[in-house]
Amino acid sequence: MTAEIIDGKAFAADIRARVAEQVAQLKAGHGITPGLAVVLVGEDPASQVYVKSKGRKTVEVGMESFEHRLPEETTEADLLALVAKLNADPAVHGILVQLPLPKHMNSDAVINAIDPAKDVDGFHVSNVGLLGTGQKAMVPCTPLGCLMMLRAQLGDLSGKEAVVIGRSNIVGKPMAHLLLGDSCTVSIAHSRTRDLANVVRRADIVVAAVGRPGMVTGDWIKPGATVIDVGINRIDAGEGKTRLVGDVEFDSASEVAGAITPVPGGVGPMTIACLLANTLTACCRANGLPEPEGLTA
Ligand code: GUN
Repeated sequence: MTAEIIDGKAFAADIRARVAEQVAQLKAGHGITPGLAVVLVGEDPASQVYVKSKGRKTVEVGMESFEHRLPEETTEADLLALVAKLNADPAVHGILVQLPLPKHMNSDAVINAIDPAKDVDGFHVSNVGLLGTGQKAMVPCTPLGCLMMLRAQLGDLSGKEAVVIGRSNIVGKPMAHLLLGDSCTVSIAHSRTRDLANVVRRADIVVAAVGRPGMVTGDWIKPGATVIDVGINRIDAGEGKTRLVGDVEFDSASEVAGAITPVPGGVGPMTIACLLANTLTACCRANGLPEPEGLTA
C-alpha cells in the first residue's frame, strides 16, 4: 500500500480563506475587526520566525495584529502588567504569549493571567479544565489542526483506536481529550510505555508528538492506519546542511499507512491557521455572535 499524503499546506490555506471570508463579513455586517496580540519576550531565533509569520498571516486574513516585543530582561511583573492591559483592551480578542519564556519567569503564572476568553492557545487552566470535561473551551491550535485533518480524512472517528505518542500539555494531552470527545478509544503512550511498537500497531489513528526524529517506523503501523506526524526535528543532512523530519520515518510508514502527513507541509501550517480560527471564535463569542462553523472542536 502507498499512503495518501495529507496536504496540510493546502488544508491550512483553505482554513485561512474561510477565516478571511468570515472576518470580511464581521467587518461589513457588524463593524468588528478581530484582533490578535502576540507577545514575544527575548531573542529566541525560532520564536522570532514564528512570531513574524503569525503577524503576517493575521494581517492577510484581514485581522488586526498587535505585536509586543519585550527585551529578555523584562520582569515578570512588567509582563503581567502588559497581559492585564491586553485583557482589558476591547480591540484585542486573542492573546498569545510565545513560549518558551526566559528562565526567570513563571510561565504558568503568566499563561494563567490571560483572560481565558482571549486565551487563543488554550493553555489557561480554565480552558484545560473545560476541554477535559467536554465543555466549550479554547482548544490548543496544533491538536485542533490534527483533529480537523482527521475528521476531513476519516469522517466519523467514533469507535476508532487512537494512539497519541507524547504527553505534553501543548499537544499530547489535549489531543487525547479531543479524540475522546469524538468517541475514539484513546491510549496515550510516552517514554515509559512498554512495548510501544505493539501499542502503536493496534491503532487506526496514530498521532506522533515526541520530538524524536523517525522514531515511529513502518513496521509499527497497522496497514491502512491514518498517521499524523506532529514532530518537527531539524537534523544534519551532511555537507553542512540540515533538513526537517518528523517523528515518523516517512518512507517506511507511507508504505503501510492509509494516509500520512508529511514533514514539512503537514501539521505545521495548520497551527497558525487554527490560531486564526481560534481568534475568530474568541471574537464571535466576545460579541455574542454565532461561532464560525467547522472551525472549532
Ligand atoms: N511555542 C511553540 N509553540 C507554541 C504555541 O503553540 N504557542 C505558544 N504560545 N508558544 C509556542
